[in-house]
Amino acid sequence: MLSSTCTAAVRGLSTTAQLSKINNVTVIGAGLMGSGIAQVSANAKLNVVVVDSNQSALDKAQKGIESSLQRVAKKKHADDAKAQTALVSSVLDRIKMSTNMSDSVKDADLVIEAIVENIDIKRKLFAEVEAAAKPTTLITTNTSSLRLADIGLNLKDKTRFGGLHFFNPVPMMKLLEVVRHNDTSDDTFQKLMEYGKAVGKTTVACKDTPGFIVNRLLVPYMFEALRLYERGDASMPDIDVAMKLGAGYPMGPFELSDYVGLDTCKFIMDGWHKQYPDEVAFKPSPLLDSLVDAGKTGRKSGEGFYKYK
Ligand code: 3HC
Repeated sequence: MLSSTCTAAVRGLSTTAQLSKINNVTVIGAGLMGSGIAQVSANAKLNVVVVDSNQSALDKAQKGIESSLQRVAKKKHADDAKAQTALVSSVLDRIKMSTNMSDSVKDADLVIEAIVENIDIKRKLFAEVEAAAKPTTLITTNTSSLRLADIGLNLKDKTRFGGLHFFNPVPMMKLLEVVRHNDTSDDTFQKLMEYGKAVGKTTVACKDTPGFIVNRLLVPYMFEALRLYERGDASMPDIDVAMKLGAGYPMGPFELSDYVGLDTCKFIMDGWHKQYPDEVAFKPSPLLDSLVDAGKTGRKSGEGFYKYK
């Protein structure tokens, strides 16, 4: 039974042939999100290939996955070093790294794109993926802010295209947003929901609307915190403490923005502001703009709203 949110989006476009079961997953993009998606997929005993044109990004992803797995293994097998090593290597053994996109998608049952949020690059990539993949392969995007209808414009068969939106850090965050656009078939949608459950996530369904559920609420909230600070109403640490202790959030809005990346926050908001210039919630922040211009993009650069060692 589909949720009411999703029912409205259903257009009865089920493909006649049932799509095959998901065993092989190809993740395109070896950044933080791509690495996390690869890790949780391999942990669910799926065969994973991570593709990136940049070998050093693949090397970094390999190290990142290994250290994340070690944290998971330490927790799961606290007093058993042998079991920890076995868990880490069994998951790593299921992940291959590659710089060859066409070769890596040819056996994929599911492709998950997690590259830069650039519509032209994504469109070109998806056309190439479709040409190289099997006619039954499910093709998905982990976009955080772009519309699926725009990203998938060049796809010939849009019924196998959908959205799988994960959250950072992927191994820890329990949610997966499964997104369907007007042409996503029922069969594709069901398979994506099943994949989400197989990788241990709680799935929620959403239509193809900017930011889906979480980012549509979370990103304007982060910017509202910035406006509160820019008006001089409260300090950044006090706003962070207030939202952690008063609303029970694990991180305050400034800590979270630094964690997500200020360039990512700016990119999302700039895109929405361009599309909806009259929407007050999508107004850019001068402070955020100046920090990003100065290369202070948050934790990953060592400084954002706060400084990091
Ligand atoms: N891999 C494996 N384990 C990890 C991990 C990772 N990458 N990151 C954290 N952990 C584990 C740690 O090992 C630790 O385990 P332990 O409790 O057994 O010691 C546990 O998580 C807690 O970690 P820490 O002690 O380092 O720190 P915290 O208690 O502050 O938890 C957090 C870290 C899970 C990141 C928590 O602060 C949190 O949930 N923050 C909010 C994150 C959030 O909102 N993410 C969504 C961002 S929006 C998004 O991603 C969408 C995109 O489109 C922009």
